[in-house]
Amino acid sequence: MNVLFVSSEAYPLIKTGGLADVSASLPRALLQMKQEVRLLLPAYQSLLEQVKNPRLIAQTYHYGQEIRVLETTLPGTRVKTWLVDCPLAFDRPGNPYVDQTGAPWPDNAFRFALFAQVAVDIALNRIGLNWPVDIVHCNDWQAGLVPALLSLHDQRPASVFTIHNLAYQGLFDKQVFFDLGLPGEFWTMHGVEFHDMFSFIKGGLSYADAISTVSPKYAKEIQTATYGYGLEHLLKFRADRLVGILNGIDTQVWNPGTDSYLVQRYNARTLTDKVNNKSALQQQLGLEVDTEIPMLGLISRLVEQKGLDMILQAIPTLIKVPLQLVFLGSGEPKYEQGLTELAQQYPKSIAAIIGYNEQLSHRIEAASDMYLMPSLFEPCGLNQLYSLRYGTIPIVTPVGGLYDSVVDHAAATPQAPANGFVMEDDSAEALIKTIRRAVTVYQHKSDWLALQRNGMKEDHAWTQSAREYIDLYESASTWLITKNQQI
Ligand code: ADP
Ligand code: GLC
Repeated sequence: MNVLFVSSEAYPLIKTGGLADVSASLPRALLQMKQEVRLLLPAYQSLLEQVKNPRLIAQTYHYGQEIRVLETTLPGTRVKTWLVDCPLAFDRPGNPYVDQTGAPWPDNAFRFALFAQVAVDIALNRIGLNWPVDIVHCNDWQAGLVPALLSLHDQRPASVFTIHNLAYQGLFDKQVFFDLGLPGEFWTMHGVEFHDMFSFIKGGLSYADAISTVSPKYAKEIQTATYGYGLEHLLKFRADRLVGILNGIDTQVWNPGTDSYLVQRYNARTLTDKVNNKSALQQQLGLEVDTEIPMLGLISRLVEQKGLDMILQAIPTLIKVPLQLVFLGSGEPKYEQGLTELAQQYPKSIAAIIGYNEQLSHRIEAASDMYLMPSLFEPCGLNQLYSLRYGTIPIVTPVGGLYDSVVDHAAATPQAPANGFVMEDDSAEALIKTIRRAVTVYQHKSDWLALQRNGMKEDHAWTQSAREYIDLYESASTWLITKNQQI
């Protein structure tokens, strides 16, 4: 199949979170499985700076803007990548979604509506690319209008919409919908209207031929009021078209045996070497150099979702266990400040690095004994999967992809060996209790080693999940044909 993969970020060109990792590694896996893929991305300023000699392959026009489509290859892969180059929309410094103060760019609706219009031009072969598209795979709200716009056409490819995070919906004022000149028939509660607001994500949820999300558990959770944000009824209504497919990981980028960012490489057989990464990081960050003390890592967007309130609340107790904590992240100022202050208060035990740092993220994965991921909700989560591969034991809440990938030390079965620790709920008490339990096991070296080896043995490469996406593409095509026959 020819798959147009529409995403607002892809590693290593532009990344704010896990969507970028998936948008790079899934297309690559599809390519290996003999599918043809074109990745479609906005040509952000920082992205264009990294791309050498992109080739102009098409031009189009929307919202008074001349738009160029450029071709390049996703670095480190053979994935052909098409860039939507519209300076007014994308040629600005910084984050793709928010300005320097952390507020959403005021013209986000325009930017991603324009992006969607170009995706539709390509999908319908309207701008001379002559690449017949079979499937348009749209990701998150930024690509939400694509399935809606495609639905207006009889002769069109099937659309698949993947929810990476239902908390981000692309909600705008009603007036924005009309300003963008979108077809009036979309403005219903069965379309993109949501409590009198304009919802980009509903463009995907209401109109896509198939919907997926990034873990089986999250696929169920979003059909409930707790995790559905008012969209649970729509998702329940579309349940026969909704599947959960657990994300895979890029096993080349995340491989402790070959990771060039590490001070010391290691694998399941040379696991005792892992500790050299810990002492090196302790030195680098000014922590007390002690190979015995348990080190817990966290690398994350600093937002409520990631359980940071719970962590801040638990730290004064945790610090007495004793243990060391290493945080790397950026996000909401209250969390950046909270972690920074704690690091100043306990400089030998806590390090907080505010910012985005690829190399350090690999070093923390390798150095830590345990990885903290007490998310309030987690559609899939990638760091627990990276941690498993690095022999770093995940400590998680029982939600979404964390539930689907981590088996508690005390809940192992012959079919599902233990690989981590799962909290009872998302309270600070549960976090403290679970970390204490983990530290007790940590002190029994052979038990700990068994846990580490179980995780390292697991296969989280994309093969299985990419196959499930191909099945979904086939179902979406069949559903589209059936729908057309009914009309
Ligand atoms: P989410 O997509 O919700 O942010 P995921 O666990 O799916 O969560 O993916 C997060 C990705 O972003 C991981 O690859 C993680 O290593 C990376 N990441 C997050 N914050 C940082 C940071 N400050 N520096 C480097 N990498 C980061
Ligand atoms: C989202 C989710 C995260 C998921 C990622 C990639 O940002 O928060 O859980 O792993 O998308 O699918």
